Amino acid sequence: MGAADGPKPDPEATGAPEVPVNATSKVPGGDAPLLAVESVSKFFGSVIALSEVSTSARAGEVTCVLGDNGAGKSTFIKMLAGVHQPDRGGIWLDGTRVAFASPREALDAGIATVYQDLAVVPLMSVWRNFFLGAEPRRRFGPVRLFDVAAARRITREQLGAMGIDVRDTDQPVGTLSGGERQAVAIARAVYFGARVLILDEPTSALGVKQAGVVLRYIAAARDRGLAVVFITHNPHHAYPIGDRFLLLNRGRSMGDFGKDEIDQAELTRLMAGGAELDELAHELARADPAEPPGSAAEASRLLAEEADELRRE
Ligand SMILES: Nc1ncnc2c1ncn2[C@@H]1O[C@H](COP(=O)(O)OP(=O)(O)OP(=O)(O)O)[C@@H](O)[C@H]1O
Ligand SMILES: [Mg+2]
Repeated sequence: MGAADGPKPDPEATGAPEVPVNATSKVPGGDAPLLAVESVSKFFGSVIALSEVSTSARAGEVTCVLGDNGAGKSTFIKMLAGVHQPDRGGIWLDGTRVAFASPREALDAGIATVYQDLAVVPLMSVWRNFFLGAEPRRRFGPVRLFDVAAARRITREQLGAMGIDVRDTDQPVGTLSGGERQAVAIARAVYFGARVLILDEPTSALGVKQAGVVLRYIAAARDRGLAVVFITHNPHHAYPIGDRFLLLNRGRSMGDFGKDEIDQAELTRLMAGGAELDELAHELARADPAEPPGSAAEASRLLAEEADELRRE
């Protein structure tokens, strides 16, 4: 396993403490989180993609990572997934410091990542997607054959256990709805033994109903004891399901809150950037007060109203 065999960086050299603060301080009397991230930074040349970001994820809980475009959300999860290595700080799994040299090492340690675009192969059947790269084999004399019947049965059972009723596991995944496709990827990660499930914006391309469906599957994975890391820019998706909220803004942490430390209105306010909306309203405003409806002035008035409303919430 990557956790045991991976190279162990010298904590002195990376400037991170040997024992993550998150492991003990955030939940009084609580046991150590499954995953602790402590003061990680990532630089791309002169770009500071992430600076000193910390959070944690517990088994049976959902940690939400929120932020606007370019906030560093994808960079953050790519470090957990072994795609990038942090330049500073560290990651602890089960209290043991880990350093993943590749996505394979992270996966072997039980960290599964569902990327929005790479979740599935649309033209392949549901069951083939489910077993992609990990086909069940049956011995037939000296040869081992791909056991199609078992693959179909397991796929149906596993999707069923997540509350997903696929009519026909032979149908191409491309014919499923966006939400169902996410569900197949989630059920797959659960079946193949993930302990930490990372979802990069699984709801962002979906309508209200479908997003609700995916949120239910996230809850199902959580209830099966996984630590879920849910990336989104939508506080309305995050708050109902989240237990912890990490807010990123231009690579910096605006806070790492437990649910009892922040309410939905505050989370929405921090995410919406009430002040920035206000600034934009002024910038868009015209000198001429006699603007017709539908004009830039009208739009800026509406923006200003929205900013006021956010502040009131
Ligand atoms: N490989 C890279 N090389 C150089 N800069 C990068 C690289 N990856 C990310 N960045 C920069 O790091 C910053 C954070 O990017 P990141 O993709 O993590 O943001 P994000 O929060 O996922 O945004 P989005 O919501 O648009 O997906 C951006 O300024 C981006 O340009
Ligand atoms: Mg991203």
